[in-house]
This record gives sequence, C-alpha cells and structure tokens, in this order.
Amino acid sequence: MTRDTQLNSEKWWQTGVIYQIYPLTFADANGDGVGDLQGIIKKLDYLNDGNPNSETSLGIDAIWLSPINRSPMVDNGYDVSDYYDISDTFGTLEDFEMLLAESHQRGIRVILDLVINHTSNRHSWFLESSSSRDNPKSDWYHWQDPEPDGGVPNNWLSYFGGTGWTFNEARKQYYYHTFNKNQPDLNWGNPEVKEAIFQMIRFWLDKGVDGFRLDASSVYSKDKYYRYNPVKFDANDNNKYNNLHHLYDKNLPENHHIIREIRKIIDRYQDRVLIGETFIDSTIYESVIFYGINNDELHLPFTFEFPFSPWYPGYLQQEIAKKELVTPSGAWASYFLDNHDIPRHLSRWVECSLCTNQLGIAQAAAAILLTVRGTPILYYGQELGMVDNQDIPPEKIQDKIVVRSETEDSPESRDGARTPMQWNDSVNAGFSFGKDIEPWLPVHKNYPEVNVAKELKDRDSIFNFYRQLIKVRKNSEALRLGSWKTLIHYPYEHLAYVRETTDEKVLIIINFSYEKDFEIDEYIARENWQVLVSNVLEAGKIIDLPSTLQPFEVSVLRKE
Ligand code: GLC
Repeated sequence: MTRDTQLNSEKWWQTGVIYQIYPLTFADANGDGVGDLQGIIKKLDYLNDGNPNSETSLGIDAIWLSPINRSPMVDNGYDVSDYYDISDTFGTLEDFEMLLAESHQRGIRVILDLVINHTSNRHSWFLESSSSRDNPKSDWYHWQDPEPDGGVPNNWLSYFGGTGWTFNEARKQYYYHTFNKNQPDLNWGNPEVKEAIFQMIRFWLDKGVDGFRLDASSVYSKDKYYRYNPVKFDANDNNKYNNLHHLYDKNLPENHHIIREIRKIIDRYQDRVLIGETFIDSTIYESVIFYGINNDELHLPFTFEFPFSPWYPGYLQQEIAKKELVTPSGAWASYFLDNHDIPRHLSRWVECSLCTNQLGIAQAAAAILLTVRGTPILYYGQELGMVDNQDIPPEKIQDKIVVRSETEDSPESRDGARTPMQWNDSVNAGFSFGKDIEPWLPVHKNYPEVNVAKELKDRDSIFNFYRQLIKVRKNSEALRLGSWKTLIHYPYEHLAYVRETTDEKVLIIINFSYEKDFEIDEYIARENWQVLVSNVLEAGKIIDLPSTLQPFEVSVLRKE
C-alpha cells in the first residue's frame, strides 16, 4: 500500500486549492482606495461560484486572508492591537460573519492569519506591560535589564534589521522584537499569555473559521537565560539576522509544545486546518519537525523551496524529490510559488535567457504547482500572470517598517508584490471605483492587458490555464492523491513525471525551452494517452507519446 492510499479519507486541505488574499489590495467596495471585506464578498463568485462546471470561476476551495484584525497597520496588519475585532479599514465583525457565510455557501473555506508571536506595541497588553515593572502584565513580553554599560542584553537581531532590543523609559529595560520595534514579542513562557491566546483562538473557531495560518510559528519561544546566538562561520548574508545560528530565539523545543497545544484545540473542532509559516529562512528538513513526532503539530508547514529555486528543471525537481523523501508518513506537503513577502515568480524568474517566454513560464509554473503531490497555495493575481510593480515612487511606499528601519541590513520593501488586483481595464484596474481616489498602492501599468475581464474572454489566457488545471486536478484522483515519480533522472530541458493511484495514471510533461528533442529514462507505455490539459494539444484528444515537444509545451495526459 502506498503512502497516499493510507490516508483514511481525503481532507479538504489536502485535495483542495488554497488562495491567499491580501485584503488591502484585493477589492475595494467602499471606494476609499483600500481593499475591504465587502469587496472580497463581491468577488467570491470569481473565486468559486459553487458550480463545478463554471467557465468564469477559478474554482479554488479555500481562502487564506492576510490579517484583518484591528491594527495600527505599521506592518500592514501583522501588528495586531485587538484580536477580537476587525480593522476599520476592512469593515466590521458583521462583515466578516457575512464573508464567512457567503464563502461557506459556495463551498469556500476561510483560513485566518494568526499573528501571535507578537502584538502591536499599541495593544492594551503591551501598554500595560510597558507601564511599570510591577503591573499585572509585567511579564507578558520579553523584558531584560540593560548591560552595565547600558547596552542591549544580548546579540539577538531583528529580522527587519538592527538589534532586536528596544529600550523602554518607564521600565528602564529593553524588550525584544523579532520584527519591528512596534511588534514586541509575547512571552509564551507565561501561562497567562498562553491562555489569553488560546481563548482567542477558540473565539474564532466558534465563529466557524476553517483554520489558521500561524504567522512566524517557529519563533514563539525564547531561551529563558537569553543566551547569545553563535555567529555563523561563513556569515556574509546582507540580512544580518541570517548570519546567526538561531539557537536561542527560534525553533526551541517549547515552541513545538505550543504548536501541539494549539493543534489540540483545533482538533476539538471538526475539519479545521492548522498551517504554519515555519519562517522564511528555514530549510525543508527544519520544517519537517513542524509536523510533530506523531503528526500532532502543523497539518501544513509552509516551506519556501519553490520561491528560493531558480527556474531550472533540475533544481525544481530536486526540491520536489526532497520533499517527497522527507515528508513523514501520514503527513501532507504543500507548495507555493508566491506570497506577500517575496517578489512574484514571474518577476523572479526572468534572468534565464533561453526561457524568456513569460507566458511559457507562467503556464509551466502553474502546471507544476497544481500537479505535484501536496496542497497548492495560490497568491492573488498569480492566476492572471501579475508581475511586481517595480515603479512605486518612494513617497508611495507602504511597507514602511522595512524601509524606515534605516539600517543597511534591512530587507527591501515588499510592496511590489502587493499592488491592487487587476480586475478590468477601467480606472484603478477596477480595484477601487473611487474616481479621484488613489489606490493604497499604485496599480501595475500593465493592467489594460493583464486583467480578469480580458483573460476571462481569452481561451488561451493564463487565467483559463489555471482554471482548467484546477478543474482537472479536482476530477483526478491521481493528481490529488497519487504517488509522484519522475521519468527523467537528471532533467536538463524538460520535466516529465507521473502521478499514479491504483486506478489512474497521469503524466505531466513540461518543456522549459525551445528544445524539442525529448527523452525519458524510465519505461512508459507510449500509446493511448488522453490530453487533459495542454497549451499545444487539444483537450480530450487521444495521442501516442510524442518523441519531440513543442517549445514551452505543457501537457497533462491521462493513460487510457
Ligand atoms: C511573517 C509575515 C510577514 C510579517 C512578519 C511579521 O513573516 O508573513 O509579512 O511582516 O511575519 O509578522
């Protein structure tokens, strides 16, 4: 029995497609230039109208919303000041309840981003904690005395640049923040903090949310002695955070106890999912720990193998093969190309001179993401072939904490990948109707060409390619659950792999270049393959396996 068939039943988060929405720039219903919950509700039919044969709907199964809680928006929502309420920017709790109901009606699950490593410095907990050394919440954050010379307590750094310690006058102490100084880290060693967070988690589960994406889920626990992190021998990363071995501020054993406790809460509710960002610099091996020794931590740890791969078949295959090898028995993988923290893949993968065909890259990337074994996560606009807006003038930058940290090691603004969804060719790309309103971030200038309305009408658009792939995946047990096996041992120009269950065999062939000669290393019957989806072959046609491929061909075939 193969590992796939051991799964006792198909879970929606294993077989479905998750779609990440960045609420600030997805759809603006009230015309103030900023996205909102009513805007998302209006666009639900575009995501999934509930009709499995719809020609106008993408057909995804779940939405993951980047944070919508009340927040001063210093890190655009990743700095929560009230976990129980919705930010005015996005609407009200009633709007959220409506979004939940409208989504569920269409069979769309709703996953919330849970930012619980830190709060905003404007959260009432931090205001109280920072007011004195002896208030009831004095131990809710990581407070340490200065060194005798007044210096910071240790060498821990902020991922956003500079020291991770900021001095507080009232307490005459430093507090620690993995990210910006406006995002103080909670002290998870304090049982009261835990209980407060767990209670809030139950609140949202009781409301009916289908799961959470745990933000920065590897850095909750800190060493109780605040020991120095050793510096790496080959320390030369531009982001100095990456030059430390994070022995004492990341991935501590206690961190896993916490995730296990959260998972226990989740498991008391039916059919919910626990996803976690194992953090941007974690390796695939590190992230495997996050499944838990008995698969009792995260259902889906997010790891960054595709985002960090070059656009090269050998490299991508190596990442898939690694993931196949290391995913524990009974556990399930997930894959993504893009998210709100990194440049979009069509902007990342432009350096390759022999693969300058952008549509070809978009189709090939879509096919890989939707045919490997694991849950695919799409980032809004990816299905249109949206690219980063690299022309945002400095005065319009919104990712200010990164830019304003004024240290030479701060990462670049992430705004390029967060610009408004391109709905049509009208003003503001149809994102915001306000005539004289400037959207929160400038719309990419390619919107008259790259937009939903136009792509819906074009049979060969990247949107329609995604739509077909999602549909084919939904109707194919092999693509949802089957084993994965490559047919080319060391791929150079092409990828060819098979997904297979007892009853079904699906072959995926991808040409990364103009190279037509196509050879596979493993035996596979050449006759009688049905085209499921292809950018060159007619869907439904029965063919024999070709010995040459079209440039940038992407074909998904089922054995008859
Ligand atoms: C995660 C989020 C990122 C945010 C950071 C701090 O990495 O994905 O957007 O800035 O956590 O919350």
